[in-house]
Amino acid sequence: MTNECKKIILETDTISRVDLNFMNKTHFEEIEMVKELGETITAYQENNKGVEKITRLLNSWLEHTKLHFARENELMQETHFPALSIHSQEHDAALNQMELITKEWQTNKNIEAVADFVFINWPHWFNTHVNSMDMMTAKFAVMNGYTE
Ligand SMILES: [Fe+2]
Ligand SMILES: [Fe+2]
Repeated sequence: MTNECKKIILETDTISRVDLNFMNKTHFEEIEMVKELGETITAYQENNKGVEKITRLLNSWLEHTKLHFARENELMQETHFPALSIHSQEHDAALNQMELITKEWQTNKNIEAVADFVFINWPHWFNTHVNSMDMMTAKFAVMNGYTE
């Protein structure tokens, strides 16, 4: 099976909603960013154009993710979420992977590694993470009176 067959592109209308809107909004933004990155990767694979754009999109995705995770970690602290350490460890691991892939791209322009991450590893991770950790964190926060 080639990577092409396994390509996963997440969509804002099908990703699970959690009980806090600011979290959903962040997830939608991220999905849109990754879609644009995915289109740019596919174009690069076809015509070798868009190196700078891929670099720029990877960097903004990384920055967006840092804020995304920091805000959720903060929410867990504010609400004393019992599984804080498990959830924040998942954030750390995902961020590490993203930083590695970004560095690898900057060093050797390995588009296949970036494509595998963007179309396979990350969508699996994001979908599972939203459906488990984020879902529980938002539910717990709302149950404990968090309304923002
Ligand atoms: Fe999240
Ligand atoms: Fe999260």
